[in-house]
Amino acid sequence: MNLKIEELNYLLTTKNEEVTDNLKKKARGIADDIFGKKIYTRGLIEFTNYCKNNCYYCGIRRENKGAIRYRLDRKEIINCCDNGYQLGFRTFVLQGGEDAYYTDDEVCAIVSSIKEKYPDCAVTLSIGEKKKASYLAFFNAGADRYLLRHETADKKHYERLHPDDMSFENRKRCLYDLKEIGYQTGCGFMVGSPYQTMESIYKDLRFIEDLQPEMVGIGPFIPHKDTEFKNYRAGSLEMTLRLLSIIRIMKPDVLLPATTALGTIHPMGREMGILAGANVVMPNLSPVNVRKKYALYDNKICTGEEVAECRGCLDGRIKSIGYNIVTDRGDYVPIKNKK
Ligand code: SAM
Ligand code: FES
Repeated sequence: MNLKIEELNYLLTTKNEEVTDNLKKKARGIADDIFGKKIYTRGLIEFTNYCKNNCYYCGIRRENKGAIRYRLDRKEIINCCDNGYQLGFRTFVLQGGEDAYYTDDEVCAIVSSIKEKYPDCAVTLSIGEKKKASYLAFFNAGADRYLLRHETADKKHYERLHPDDMSFENRKRCLYDLKEIGYQTGCGFMVGSPYQTMESIYKDLRFIEDLQPEMVGIGPFIPHKDTEFKNYRAGSLEMTLRLLSIIRIMKPDVLLPATTALGTIHPMGREMGILAGANVVMPNLSPVNVRKKYALYDNKICTGEEVAECRGCLDGRIKSIGYNIVTDRGDYVPIKNKK
């Protein structure tokens, strides 16, 4: 990475609008050159909010007795995919807490039934830290991609965000295992999480450079009322947008979502994210009756709408800024192989 920490500090804190406008324009220009006006979409299926972990920031942490827990079974998950396929989704993201109820065999069975029914679709898993053998089994069952945010590349910071039974070393191990197996791998972090410093963000960028992920998920930290961090401030819109731009410039061909959290802290957050260089949106395909229960943070958007309604809304929002959501798997393609 050419950027020095002083330069990062300047880009993230300057009030000079010409500098920040240019940063975002440059990032969007790079994304336009590679992806044109196309925005990829993924249907997010939040299939369980049971979790064995106790991350201090997360609303579905195991010690949150206020969380109303739910699980979707294989049939319900396939139903979500049926709905999604009809609406033009060609990637399904299965996300959940770390829930041992879904054994490796069950995860493999879910993945292979989706791939059997929809061979033209990609399946992304986002189910946390597992043994390498499990990741391999899921891959062999047909999973194409895996999202596992590293959360922070600063060990001391990691330890302030998680209790002792989680370690940064294991998180990193998982990500390198996923890459080695051949997944399109996504890491990422929250912007403005408690105790985050300029140095930790700098380490995040260096980590991205080292891992060379195909996807990077960043979004603002937003407090949840039943967590240790309930009294901390949310991460800022502007800082998240600038970081999206920096990541696009660092890694031009990366798949970079404008997240729901970004849309939660500002009504136009996702649109602004696209204009700052993001090229993916991930609307919710989960059944409406469970949406509010997958509350990672307070005031999450899009928890009341039917899937089709939500898709229509997002299509309109993206069109309004001159872009189009496309019916495409939206795989990672390294720049040199792009036509
Ligand atoms: N269990 C899986 C894992 O650990 O990767 C996937 C689910 S986890 C809830 C998905 C992501 O939500 C986390 O990686 C974290 O960055 C994000 N998240 C959790 N709590 C959040 C909060 N309060 N504000 C913003 N993002 C949050
Ligand atoms: Fe879900 Fe707008 S994207 S209601």
